[in-house]
Amino acid sequence: MTTTEAIATARGLVKTYGSGEAAVRALDGVDVDFERGRMTAIMGPSGSGKSTLMHCMAGLDRVDSGEVVVDGEPVSRMRERELTRLRRTRLGFVFQAFNLVPTLTALENITLPLDIARRPVDQAQLAQVVDAVGLSDRLSHKPGQLSGGQQQRVACARALVTRPAVVFADEPTGNLDSTSSGEVLGFLRRSVDELGQSVVMVTHDPTAASYAHRVLFLADGRLVAEVADPTPETVLATLGSLTPQRAAAEATL
Ligand SMILES: Nc1ncnc2c1ncn2[C@@H]1O[C@H](COP(=O)(O)OP(=O)(O)O)[C@@H](O)[C@H]1O
Ligand SMILES: [Mg+2]
Repeated sequence: MTTTEAIATARGLVKTYGSGEAAVRALDGVDVDFERGRMTAIMGPSGSGKSTLMHCMAGLDRVDSGEVVVDGEPVSRMRERELTRLRRTRLGFVFQAFNLVPTLTALENITLPLDIARRPVDQAQLAQVVDAVGLSDRLSHKPGQLSGGQQQRVACARALVTRPAVVFADEPTGNLDSTSSGEVLGFLRRSVDELGQSVVMVTHDPTAASYAHRVLFLADGRLVAEVADPTPETVLATLGSLTPQRAAAEATL
């Protein structure tokens, strides 16, 4: 088996929200490697720390302790200005809410990260991404004129157009029907297989997770399981094997 170099790593991540009695340990000592040129899914029950892990990896949130390195950059040690630069130039984001600018066309939304960073648009790269998401005939449409699936494909194209080191996607299909979900997930996976992109995706949907090369399972802020080459069945089976532990833990509270 070949070992794949990590594009992003976390060591000993601890993140607490609130203080005193109200404190919540959202991450409770997470060590993880995300592989370069692979799609990794993060699963787990609601409140298990999936979004927190993604936000801490992507410099959207601060860790209490531990180390995050993304593409050689010491994310957990960076100041706010450096984090802003890192997010703009090296990372791509897709969220459950599409977060498109309603007054801009699809094309303007896609090139927005380059415009903000005052970087020139690489037309070949743009054409490749637009073609890959199947939006060539929708580029002059505003978000309000697009279906949810089309809007999320615009958001994916926007995340990819900068050729980021990693695309972080948090429940990217959470607002989509199954057909649109399949389109978005298929596109994210092809960006890995055909463009060499590295993708980290949070999802609670076993079918969505099965598009990934590897699925990590979080429970109560800890990594508790991992499945390679997942299918919806193996993901469901793993979720099922984890649920009794959680129920037992909750029963003792
Ligand atoms: N900004 C916040 N302030 C306070 N608590 C938070 C905040 N964000 C997350 N939490 C808490 O941290 C835990 C993990 O949340 P989150 O990472 O959003 O879980 P998931 O994405 O797996 O549903 C939950 O108990 C949640 O209530
Ligand atoms: Mg979440």
